[in-house]
Amino acid sequence: MRVLYGLSIGVLALGTAALLGAGTSQVMAYSEYAQGCQNCHGDFRAANYVSIADGQAWGTSLHNGHRSDMLNGDCAACHTTPGFSPVFLKSSDGGDGLAPLGCLGCHGRDESSGVTGAGLRQHHWNNGVTGCGGCHPGDSNPAVFTPASEVVLPPYYLNPGANHPNMPTHPCNLESLGYPEDVLSAAGTGGLDNNGDNLYDTTDVDCAPLVPVEQTTWGYIKALYQ
Ligand code: HEC
Ligand code: HEC
Ligand code: HEC
Ligand code: HEC
Repeated sequence: MRVLYGLSIGVLALGTAALLGAGTSQVMAYSEYAQGCQNCHGDFRAANYVSIADGQAWGTSLHNGHRSDMLNGDCAACHTTPGFSPVFLKSSDGGDGLAPLGCLGCHGRDESSGVTGAGLRQHHWNNGVTGCGGCHPGDSNPAVFTPASEVVLPPYYLNPGANHPNMPTHPCNLESLGYPEDVLSAAGTGGLDNNGDNLYDTTDVDCAPLVPVEQTTWGYIKALYQ
């Protein structure tokens, strides 16, 4: 049974790769992690996640990388009672002093119409994963919507609640703050592209006013050689 299950996942992954390769807009995702994100990012609890954004091996699962390394074991940041499944992208019980936003707490920002994952969708779009637009037509395509600047703090960075000393603190991932978005990647190799324009952290001109000139230049040089 395990073998059969593995095989069918393999076939799914191949199917996804073929679809991506062909540049079609077919992609499945809904309001829960397991309904679509999992098709490309795998089981959240699978060991040894390797980032498909920067290729770095986390040495642990997406689950432990998030809950242990960033959230000090605060299950309710993402989970919703009763039980541990499903996990919603935009809601949770909220954890210790955290707003009940789940994944959007860090992967979303206030786009003035409320907290949404527009930047996350545009990061996908700008890397060929345009299928988000099928169900989120209003903000997935950079041509139709401009997300808030990279410098806008995701809600959990802004209000980290209590007892989350390892919460990321800044979307520009500043060297002067110790690269707070590089939790699982090596320091300085890139946190999140929060506004989805495919420019990370200090290589994003939005962050330039916050960064000493030599650090910005270094960011560009590193981006060139990545
Ligand atoms: C069709 C495949 C596919 C699906 C479905 C998908 N992703 Fe991705 N995702 C990718 C790829 C490919 C990248 C890396 C793009 C790059 O940076 O080259 C990525 C990158 C990311 C990143 C890193 C962004 C950054 O700033 O570096 C996050 C976070 C993410 N995805 C979360 C999600 C979530 C949450 C969902 C479900 C709502 C999802 N993904 C669905 C393919 C997918
Ligand atoms: C960063 C968000 C996040 C945090 C924090 C988190 N989890 Fe999860 N957890 C998930 C996701 C996503 C899944 C996969 C859900 C799915 O596939 O339906 C999951 C799945 C689980 C499952 C399996 C549920 C099932 O029935 O398949 C258990 C058990 C679980 N988590 C326990 C915990 C515990 C205990 C904590 C705190 C110590 C915790 N989680 C913290 C995101 C999180
Ligand atoms: C506490 C903030 C926070 C929360 C809450 C959070 N994430 Fe993340 N997530 C991050 C950061 C920061 C990274 C990048 C870490 C790094 O590169 O070192 C990341 C990375 C990821 C990646 C890896 C993308 C890649 O391949 O590089 C995925 C997938 C992802 N998150 C999905 C989720 C999902 C799904 C949820 C909700 C169940 C969630 N995250 C909740 C902060 C968070
Ligand atoms: C098959 C339809 C479908 C596709 C394709 C889809 N989503 Fe969604 N998504 C939904 C639905 C439905 C919700 C829940 C909407 C709500 O309750 O407001 C949702 C909610 C979300 C949310 C939280 C709410 C918000 O405003 O941001 C995020 C983040 C998200 N999706 C990201 C993605 C990403 C990234 C992709 C592409 C990789 C994607 N979605 C593709 C149907 C889809």
